[in-house]
Amino acid sequence: MKLSEKATLLALTLAVVAFSLSTLAAEPVTPKLTDKLSRVLQQEMRAIQSAMAAIHVAMVTGQHDEVASQAQQIHDSFILKQSLTEQDKKDLMSAVPEGFVKLDKEFHQLAASLADAAEQKHTQKQYELYNEMTDSCIACHSRYVSDRFSGLADQEK
Ligand code: HEC
Repeated sequence: MKLSEKATLLALTLAVVAFSLSTLAAEPVTPKLTDKLSRVLQQEMRAIQSAMAAIHVAMVTGQHDEVASQAQQIHDSFILKQSLTEQDKKDLMSAVPEGFVKLDKEFHQLAASLADAAEQKHTQKQYELYNEMTDSCIACHSRYVSDRFSGLADQEK
């Protein structure tokens, strides 16, 4: 392949990548949620937020039991959402893209791992998982809630 052809190919590839990133970045799910889903999700988020605050102080003061029980509660809020009616689940699936569901699962999985690390009284691991969970808040909010959290709109990694 000639150098000029290579350059064209590279430019094309970059354009495609830039395009997919830009569509990924601007995809707020909030306008597509039913009132009930919105309510359940906001309730879950507020519970997650206060659990994260409690975990932070418990982690830095070595209260492993408290870290474990709060992390377990975050994990279980996922279960709470699983108790939605069939219709709610359909509504949810049609409102959110696959990437959202994947991030949500990963997030709740991290919470389960954090509970494990706390049971092992492993502070360094708790710290790493806590940071990964924070990454996950930012990733989901910047990608899917940029309408409400406009300060995160251009934070796509
Ligand atoms: C998989 C996606 C996802 C992840 C991960 C996520 N959030 Fe959210 N969060 C949302 C969505 C969607 C909303 C907006 C819900 C709405 O307004 O209908 C939201 C809203 C919120 C709100 C506002 C709640 C309210 O009362 O309106 C808070 C606080 C919040 N999130 C905290 C967090 C924290 C803290 C984390 C990480 C520890 C986190 N979220 C992780 C999707 C996510």
